[in-house]
Amino acid sequence: MKRLVVYQSGTGFTRQYAMWIADALSCRAVDLKQTTENMIREHEQVIFGGWIMGNMIRGLDKINKMNPGHLYVFAVGSTPDDIVDTVEIKELNHLGDTPFFYMPGGFRFEQLNFMTRRMLKILKRSAAKKENKNPQEQYMANALGTSFDHSDKKYTEPLLACCLKDSSPV
Ligand SMILES: Cc1cc2nc3c(=O)[nH]c(=O)nc-3n(C[C@H](O)[C@H](O)[C@H](O)COP(=O)(O)O)c2cc1C
Repeated sequence: MKRLVVYQSGTGFTRQYAMWIADALSCRAVDLKQTTENMIREHEQVIFGGWIMGNMIRGLDKINKMNPGHLYVFAVGSTPDDIVDTVEIKELNHLGDTPFFYMPGGFRFEQLNFMTRRMLKILKRSAAKKENKNPQEQYMANALGTSFDHSDKKYTEPLLACCLKDSSPV
């Protein structure tokens, strides 16, 4: 089974997950920027991971345009896995029946540019002011503007099991 992991990462969390997955599946992990349509065509399973911005998975459009045969998608965000709305993310990103997995990343606040840091601080303030916050707003009011790392190799396990199940003989 020829597999390829492709990722788009801004501050390194998605890259780390891509490396863990590629290591477990004994295949290569490549940055989306270095990926060509020929590379995608040569692989039976393509596992794509992108970081989440405003619930949208970065890089997903580009990988879809390359027409991967059997695509698996993982997305990395800072929202804790017990409050993230994966149904909404799937819908917004038009994932349909594509196997989808959410993996918690974190924030490397100091690596973000000035404008992004400013925008996050504004979002934090407006979430903090809101009454009757839902869990997502409560999390934003507490966590935005700080650095933290919630990534863990264990979050790759459901995706690995799915890829291996699909390639095992029946
Ligand atoms: C502008 C911006 C918007 C973001 N929007 C979301 C979001 O909607 N949901 C979420 O869970 N995380 C969101 N995040 C957090 C990132 O997805 C998180 O930091 C992720 O771990 C980054 O992965 P990377 O290190 O591979 O770039 C956002 C971060 C930034 C900078």
